[in-house]
Amino acid sequence: MAFSEQFLEELRARAGLADVISRRVKLARKGREHLGLCPFHKEKTPSFTVNEEKGFYHCFGCGAHGSVFDFVMETDGLTFPEAVEKLAGEAGLEVPRATPEDRERQKQRQTLFDVTEKACLFFERRLRMPEGKKALDYLKRRGLGDDVIKRFRLGFAPDGRGVLKTALAKDGIPENLMVGAGLIIQPEDQEARTGPGGSGDTPGPEARTGTQKPKRETYDRFRGRVMFPITDPRDRVIAFGGRVLESPPAGPETDKSAAPKYLNSPETALFQKGRVLYGQKLASGPARKAGIVIVTEGYTDVIALHRAGFEYAVAPLGTALTETQIGLLWRLAPEPVLCFDGDKAGVRAAGRALERALPLLKPGHSLRFALLPQNEDPDSLIQREGAAAFARVLGGALSLSDMLWRLVSQGVDISTPERCAGLEKKAYDAIGPIRDEKVRGFYMRDFRDRLFQTFRPKKMRLSGRFGPTGMAARAGQGRQAKSNLLVSTPLGRGAGEEPVHRRIEELLMLTLLSHPAILVAHHEDLAGLDMATPEMDRLCRAILEATESDSGLDTGRLKDHLVEKGFEALYMRLTESASLKSDWFAWPEAALVDAEKGWVQTLKRYRRITTLQKEYEALEDELSRNTTEECFSRLMALQEEMQVNSGNESDLEGYGLASERPVT
Ligand code: UTP
Ligand code: MN
Repeated sequence: MAFSEQFLEELRARAGLADVISRRVKLARKGREHLGLCPFHKEKTPSFTVNEEKGFYHCFGCGAHGSVFDFVMETDGLTFPEAVEKLAGEAGLEVPRATPEDRERQKQRQTLFDVTEKACLFFERRLRMPEGKKALDYLKRRGLGDDVIKRFRLGFAPDGRGVLKTALAKDGIPENLMVGAGLIIQPEDQEARTGPGGSGDTPGPEARTGTQKPKRETYDRFRGRVMFPITDPRDRVIAFGGRVLESPPAGPETDKSAAPKYLNSPETALFQKGRVLYGQKLASGPARKAGIVIVTEGYTDVIALHRAGFEYAVAPLGTALTETQIGLLWRLAPEPVLCFDGDKAGVRAAGRALERALPLLKPGHSLRFALLPQNEDPDSLIQREGAAAFARVLGGALSLSDMLWRLVSQGVDISTPERCAGLEKKAYDAIGPIRDEKVRGFYMRDFRDRLFQTFRPKKMRLSGRFGPTGMAARAGQGRQAKSNLLVSTPLGRGAGEEPVHRRIEELLMLTLLSHPAILVAHHEDLAGLDMATPEMDRLCRAILEATESDSGLDTGRLKDHLVEKGFEALYMRLTESASLKSDWFAWPEAALVDAEKGWVQTLKRYRRITTLQKEYEALEDELSRNTTEECFSRLMALQEEMQVNSGNESDLEGYGLASERPVT
């Protein structure tokens, strides 16, 4: 339904943002704004602001943000046209629209909701009857308990041509509505088809109802399948996905005419698959609260993620993400994380989603890409390795720019100037579709840096300190010194290597061992860290793993976990380290607040040092080409700054600068 801008403008003015919101939220005036407790997340001190002038509300706690229409859509669970309708009604404005056809369609939609709801109840009940036992067993085999079955309203469509049809007819529902809801199939006229008996879906004996237009008998669309109802944001059933009970045989010999694994409702007045996300209603609350939404491919993945505690998971319906769906996702969280199988097909699919998103990017809004191990989906990964394994995958999700760089640069040969220029062109072309100028500008900068890192010569590497580290090394994908072929690292970093600062990493870890509670607020920070010392990196992962499986972790339990995982020696070394003694905040005697403060500061310093070392590397390379006095003194200055940042006189050898200064 298209409303004119003019009408919407008038409605906005008439409705009054603060008025509408103050019916739900107690607002206090504060300067130009109103302030209150956010209705979208739990809070004790108000961080929800309403700016009448700008026509927006914004919550600094959970990021909820929008117009008066968004507010009504969110709080009343309405679609946009419905919200407009409601506000117009309250403001006494006539909505300029509604041809008789529109009204008819609206009425039909209302009735269709009844039909889909009745069908959903029918499927749910049949799952509990003897005929549904094999379906119920199937679900149980997949680990789904009664609570999950109920929450997702899973059901069973019996294996018969007219079981649902008969049941709905008994309820007085006419056949045309069943067809309209996509539940039964009205075969085409016989002439229009290739012939009788041509497909597995051929209906039984025909029922000729008219004289000129012989209609073949309608029949149930879903037969012998486990049913996954699809709901709209108001939790009304609008469509179904049905899965066969057995997995179809894999491999190339798969019989193409065999029943597809999943069958979805067709597009109907209620259901346009590109505008819906499976699980949206269940996910929206948790997503807003956590500020994260996970997008996976399948029904079963959404359910598995919910069960594992990731309740903010949704899925598109068997197609690539549409613009509309990306818009829906951004209303839930600023950087939805898309999951893909890490194989070639998965990376290609990620590329398609990325292409779709590029023109839509806007400040603060992006996507992230989580690549799963080959041949795994979230469901299988969680079944096999548990929730922590999936959390790790999430933690390693690539930013959109990392992903784009990876797609652009992977496998590109840069052994000649022309090829270098080719890569540069390809890289800049790739960000062309970004419509938002601010975002595009930052992409330009980002890609310029990456190109610079990629092209700078690899000679004159200082020995010992700059070996491949971090994820690149862990994946065994460090850049080969001799080859100019770009090898992508999981992080998509061109340069791959990262310098080491062992002591500061030890300090970070020791503080966590003494005060695991720090992780409650800083879990994300830690998950995003890429420790350069392999030993510390392993410890870091183990700590993350422990806290993920046990949220109320205390020092003792954390120690037990680490000992069990074979970190006893390292644990002892850290907790008895004399060289770390001077940093009192890292030890158990410190108060938690102080420990946290110290930890955060140390983390900042660590990040600063990492950056400095990158600069240092770049200078080093420059020096190898171009040994000027000026360059050398810049290098010296940088060294000094690095030492200051290391913050501990006793640790200067951590950089090894004195002994490894490049000989000029
Ligand atoms: P998958 O084949 O990856 O299935 O399809 P899955 O979700 O892992 O299901 P299980 O674990 O075997 O039960 C991913 C999604 O693609 C759509 C469905 O939405 C499915 O959830 N799909 C798949 C179809 O629509 N039709 C099909 O025949 C197969
Ligand atoms: Mn699966």
